Amino acid sequence: GPPLRVLADRAGVRIGTAVDMTALAEDRTYRRTTAREFDSVTAENVMKWESVEPQRGVYDWKPADDLVHFARAHGQVVRGHTLVWHSQLPAWLTTGVADGSIDAKELRGILREHITTEVKRYKGRIQQWDVVNEVFEEDGSLRNSIWLQQLGPSYIADAFRWAHAADPKAKLFLNDYNVEGVNAKSTAYYNLAKGLRAQGVPVQGFGIQGHLAIQYGFPGQVAENLARFEALGMQTAFTEVDVRMILPADAEKAATQADYFRRLLDACLGARGCRSFTVWGYTDRYSWVPGVFAGQGAATPMDEEYGRKPAYGAVREGL
Ligand code: XIL
Repeated sequence: GPPLRVLADRAGVRIGTAVDMTALAEDRTYRRTTAREFDSVTAENVMKWESVEPQRGVYDWKPADDLVHFARAHGQVVRGHTLVWHSQLPAWLTTGVADGSIDAKELRGILREHITTEVKRYKGRIQQWDVVNEVFEEDGSLRNSIWLQQLGPSYIADAFRWAHAADPKAKLFLNDYNVEGVNAKSTAYYNLAKGLRAQGVPVQGFGIQGHLAIQYGFPGQVAENLARFEALGMQTAFTEVDVRMILPADAEKAATQADYFRRLLDACLGARGCRSFTVWGYTDRYSWVPGVFAGQGAATPMDEEYGRKPAYGAVREGL
C-alpha cells in the first residue's frame, strides 16, 4: 500500500515521528523509512537545551540543523521540541542555580536568551514549537521545577511571549503526558490555556504526548478533551505517541496496541483542530521505552527489523 504520508495528506493531517539523529546518520534503512512514511519530524533529543548549549555560551546546532535540512529535503514540516522543561537541562545551568551562582534575575535573562536564540535560528522552519513541556503534576498542581521555584508561575506566559516575538508564525504549544483524556492534569492545562488566552498570551496549541501502556488501559473521554481545547480556539496535536507493553510481546498484546494507536488516531481525525499525529519513534530498534521502563518495550509500529506490526496496519487503515 501507499506510504503513511500519502494517506495522511489525503486525510488532511500530518503524520510525524521523533527522529534519532545518530540513527539517521548511521542507518540507511532508518533514513529511507523516515523520509518515505512521514511528513513531519520532531527531534527526539537534539533541540533540547542540554544538546544545543552544553556549556554556557557554547552552542552545538549541528544535529538540529541536520534534521531541519533533512526535513526540507524530504518535504517534511518540523515540530520544535522543546524550549522550557525541567529535564535534559545543561549541567552548567542546574549547577549554577543549585549553588546560588545564578540568581533568579539572571536565570530569567538566561531563559529569555535561550528561547530567543533557538526560535530565531529556525524562524520560518518550525511549524509547531513545544514551548513548555510537562509543567503540571498529575494532581493539576504546577510542577516544582527550577522555573517555578526561581521565577514563579509567570515564566509560562513569558516563555510564550518570547517565543512568539522570535517567530510570530510558529504555532506555540503546551505539551505533556497523561493528558489524553479528561482528568485533573488535562483540566489544569485547560484552565491555564483559557487564562493565558484571555490575557492575550500567544498560546495556540495543546500537545498530547500519548505515551500509553496497554497494562493501564485506554484513557477515557479523549474526544471530549480535544473538543474543549478546540472550543478555546486552539489546535491540538498528538505529539509523542507510543504504546508500550510488558515484555515479552505476544499476538494479543500486539492487537491491543494496534487498537490503542487506532483509537488515538481516530480521536485526532475526528477533531477539526487536530492536524498532527506524531509517533515517538516508529521502530523498536531505537525506541526510548526499554531504557526507561524496565521490562517494557515493543512500543512502536515496527519491530527492530522494520517489520510492520499490527499497529502499523491500524494506523494505515485509520488514515
Ligand atoms: C526522551 C527521549 O526519547 C530519550 O531518548 C531521552 O533519553 C529522554 O527523553 N517526554 C518528552 C520527550 O517530552 O522529550 C522524552 O524523550 C520522552 C517523554
